Amino acid sequence: MKILVTGGAGFIGSNLVDALAVNNTHEIIVADDFSTGSRENVAQHAANPRVRVVALDIRDKYAVREIMRGVDVVYHLAVQCIRVSIRDPYLVHDVNATGTLHLLTAALDENVKRFVYCSSSEVYGTARRVPMDEEHPLVPTTPYGASKLAGETYARSFYLTYGLPVTIVRPFNTYGPREHFEGPYGEVIPKFVVRALNHAPLVIFGDGTQTRDFTDVSDTVRGLIAAGECDTLVGDVVNIARGQDVNLRDLAQIVLDTLPDSQSAIEYQAPRPGDVLRHFADISKAKRVLGFEPKIEIRQGVKRYVDWLMRSEFDPREMLSQEKLRNWE
Ligand SMILES: NC(=O)c1ccc[n+]([C@@H]2O[C@H](COP(=O)([O-])OP(=O)(O)OC[C@H]3O[C@@H](n4cnc5c(N)ncnc54)[C@H](O)[C@@H]3O)[C@@H](O)[C@H]2O)c1
Repeated sequence: MKILVTGGAGFIGSNLVDALAVNNTHEIIVADDFSTGSRENVAQHAANPRVRVVALDIRDKYAVREIMRGVDVVYHLAVQCIRVSIRDPYLVHDVNATGTLHLLTAALDENVKRFVYCSSSEVYGTARRVPMDEEHPLVPTTPYGASKLAGETYARSFYLTYGLPVTIVRPFNTYGPREHFEGPYGEVIPKFVVRALNHAPLVIFGDGTQTRDFTDVSDTVRGLIAAGECDTLVGDVVNIARGQDVNLRDLAQIVLDTLPDSQSAIEYQAPRPGDVLRHFADISKAKRVLGFEPKIEIRQGVKRYVDWLMRSEFDPREMLSQEKLRNWE
């Protein structure tokens, strides 16, 4: 099978490519504009002739049409992120919504056998009830969430109108190796870990009672692949998450427990615009339809992330200076 992974040089995308390449049976095209992802994230496949890394901007509909030739399955992950959406909603709309439309149109023309749209729990907005199943109201709080929902709505409409075999996956907050730590792209777990390693304060925006359903990237990737292989989910949507909410105070403490030599304190700053207050997934549909079982709980996942960072070529001190220099929040 020929598989196209958009955003394949990013955090989740590169972990997905690793998993898809394990059996060496598929031809994989990694398409990315490297705006936030990097070639290093997929450099481990450089010697594999079945994995091709291609520079592509999904806003270019002619280039998208070209790359789609002969593709059987699409995992569409390319995205511009939530913090960028606060200051530049047009850019984020162009990539996340219009870019998705370009991919859907090209996939339809090429008779693609499965189009997996990687959506986000951000389409729900703050939880109105928990746990949040797939029928939870869709009230995104940020332009990012709105753009992800627009992509989702286009994807579903291509199934309903043209019969394109689309599956929508809604991952919740995902963490793990290669997650961004820097500036507006930086996510809370790598930021906390980098700060704790440098004895710098762990900064929480708001009072720290906000929760997220933190999911290890290995679980998210297994969920994405299972959803992409499941015929029952064609034209349908599924949550992928750990199925447990953790508040940010507890998360900070877990990081400090994992790094007991750290002298970091927890510091509270004003809440950020649009931040959701609570996310807690109901994953019973994924369990029932996909047999999905998340394997990594949060303490274990944070420990795995720290271990990976220690083995990587990253210098935590250098990481902190990048994080601070480009920290716009
Ligand atoms: N990280 C999470 O916690 C999380 C949670 C839920 C859903 N998701 C979804 O998972 C997917 C991947 O997210 P991620 O966290 O790996 O983000 P990421 O920023 O690491 O990856 C996105 C990739 O898209 C690429 N990209 C950006 N603009 C592009 C363009 N115009 N053309 C081509 N490529 C472009 C970037 O270079 C990057 O490699 C996204 O669809 C996101 O909405 C992520």
